[in-house]
Amino acid sequence: MSIEVLGVLVHRNGSEISPPSGPLFDVPMIQRLAHDFDANGYDRVLILQNSFAPDPLVIATHAATVTRRLAFMVAHRPGFIAPTMAARMFATLDHISGGGRVGVHIITGANDTELQCDGDFLTKEQRYHRSAEYVRAMRAVWSSTTPVDFNGEFYRFNKALSELRPVTAAGIPIYWGGASPLAIEKAAECADVYAFGGLKPLDQMRQDVAAVQALAMKAGRTVRLQTSVRVILGETEAAAWAEARRVVDRLGEVALEQRRALERDGGAVRTGMRLDKALATTKGGTGRGELERIATGPEVLDKRLWTGITRASIDFATPTLPPALVGTAEQVADAIMDYHAMGITGFLIRGFDLLGDIETHGRELIPRLRMLAGAAKKPVGAKNS
Ligand SMILES: Cc1cc2nc3c(=O)[nH]c(=O)nc-3n(C[C@H](O)[C@H](O)[C@H](O)COP(=O)(O)O)c2cc1C
Repeated sequence: MSIEVLGVLVHRNGSEISPPSGPLFDVPMIQRLAHDFDANGYDRVLILQNSFAPDPLVIATHAATVTRRLAFMVAHRPGFIAPTMAARMFATLDHISGGGRVGVHIITGANDTELQCDGDFLTKEQRYHRSAEYVRAMRAVWSSTTPVDFNGEFYRFNKALSELRPVTAAGIPIYWGGASPLAIEKAAECADVYAFGGLKPLDQMRQDVAAVQALAMKAGRTVRLQTSVRVILGETEAAAWAEARRVVDRLGEVALEQRRALERDGGAVRTGMRLDKALATTKGGTGRGELERIATGPEVLDKRLWTGITRASIDFATPTLPPALVGTAEQVADAIMDYHAMGITGFLIRGFDLLGDIETHGRELIPRLRMLAGAAKKPVGAKNS
């Protein structure tokens, strides 16, 4: 069973423990990151979207022109432009990138107040219904050579037609995030790939995987599964645990720096977050309660799933981080394969040193994952991927 390895492409180098410095929008860094992901064996990169960050579709377009192979998972919030227009924009990027490199990650959004910054006043429940209809509308445009009429609950258009259609027969894949029951129900109905936000203990993840698969089966579909994976690697296991402790110390220091910055200028924006907590993109998301439960349990779960960063991020009131895998590359690859064995084939891998980790992961982790995935048996009931 093949795997897809993903990274995160942002417009400045930095992480939760080393806030970005330098230009606010660092074009040479975008190029360098994109190049390094491409050269180090990553298949695809996620480019995030919210109501204050630079536009991910434009960043993807630039990154596509400086890479040859790397594919994109472009975060995209329905509700702001017509789906007919979005379909043409993504089809255009598909052609610019040479075909087969574009994926749309549908973002329904967690925080009502933050979405209102862009003028979206629907509730989360309404937004999920709209997101599903948006996907149907985009697919209607992508798949038709003749004019299409559409009359839905949120969108209505007549004689829509795109001169460009996706380059390859496989089309433009739809990725989908969100952990609430409606998010999962709608993913089962319309996503190509459902993305979990992070690792959970194996038993719990197995149940969640089964729940998505059961809903997809009920809808008569198969949905590929992906999860984000936070890793802390060391040359030895002891070195990895020492690094894990350093990460927690740094999370505390950065939280303090951010509190001071918030007191100085309340409306401040940092890459990936607004310091005003009412506007945090993750506020109102479903996963937080579950992470709090996980963080109050044992510090190490299963083989090496470490809840230390989850607990620290709750203590320091920063965006809550799912638990991380800590160990040597060999140990971490082995632990990732336990999730692969459940039927998860996409792994969005991140450490805490955005630029520096790419080469380490490309050298130490990704080849091991591909080797182990190549040797792994298909889980019972899985179709070819
Ligand atoms: C891999 C991944 C990437 C995400 N990227 C973004 C993003 O760029 N912007 C955003 O606002 N939300 C992002 N989300 C959040 C979700 O799409 C979703 O809107 C959020 O979890 C709220 O839904 P819930 O309450 O159903 O969990 C992402 C989620 C996942 C799993």
